[in-house]
Amino acid sequence: MILIFLGPPGSGKGTQAKRLSAEHGWPHLSTGDMLRTAISIGSRVGLEAKSFIDQGALVPDSVVINLIAERISTMDCAHGFILDGFPRNIAQAHALDAMLGSRGRSIGRVVLFEITEPFLIKRLSGRRTCSGCNTMYHIEASPPKREEVCDLCGKALIHRSDDQPEVIHKRLEIYSKETEPLAGFYRIEGKLQSIDATLSPLEVSQQLSILLAEERSEL
Ligand code: AP5
Repeated sequence: MILIFLGPPGSGKGTQAKRLSAEHGWPHLSTGDMLRTAISIGSRVGLEAKSFIDQGALVPDSVVINLIAERISTMDCAHGFILDGFPRNIAQAHALDAMLGSRGRSIGRVVLFEITEPFLIKRLSGRRTCSGCNTMYHIEASPPKREEVCDLCGKALIHRSDDQPEVIHKRLEIYSKETEPLAGFYRIEGKLQSIDATLSPLEVSQQLSILLAEERSEL
């Protein structure tokens, strides 16, 4: 199944995509993670993307569309995948339709993570990510056992450069202007389903399981 997770920064898309990916074996395709990896290895894409990410702006469409087109052509995506952070505007949504259509494939379901701003600010400002294995923590809701150290691999935890208060506000603004209209786009196509993303990670995960079970029974 091809799933798209749509929702504002901090709504829990990455947390749930990682869980679902581990459960079903569908690759988790996060354009944010791909871009951050490109920055950390100093590739051409990384150099191009860094200033956009640091300012909370969208990286140019051509860059992310190429990343996704290349990634979905790999063998492990043959039986489905989860898109987290892509598409992020209408142009990217059209590009995705075209690349899937040319392979005889289509989107199964678009899940909208519904949540309000106060939750997002709290989650993003407290988020810490492992610099080694990308495991996510929250300083209050899911803290590591040792401060600033990953429980799983022992590497240092980082506070993302775009999780600073001024950048968070910019990202939220861009989400409502560029990305939120995608909900209407996929609703018209009959692909959109919403979940309540204000609940605990376990409760959000349970909603997703129900939604996927319904989806499968309709197939
Ligand atoms: P990206 O990495 O995609 O960031 P985002 O979409 O802004 O989403 P986040 O990763 O911030 O949040 P999330 O919803 O995954 O929440 P998470 O699970 O981490 O993009 C970063 C940048 O890259 C963009 O600004 C842009 O510059 C660029 N970019 C990426 N894709 C692009 C594209 N397609 N086009 C152009 N540019 C692109 O959770 C957040 C925190 O909350 C964590 O601490 C977690 O532990 C906690 N948490 C999660 N769920 C819950 C819960 N249910 N209850 C309590 N806490 C929770």
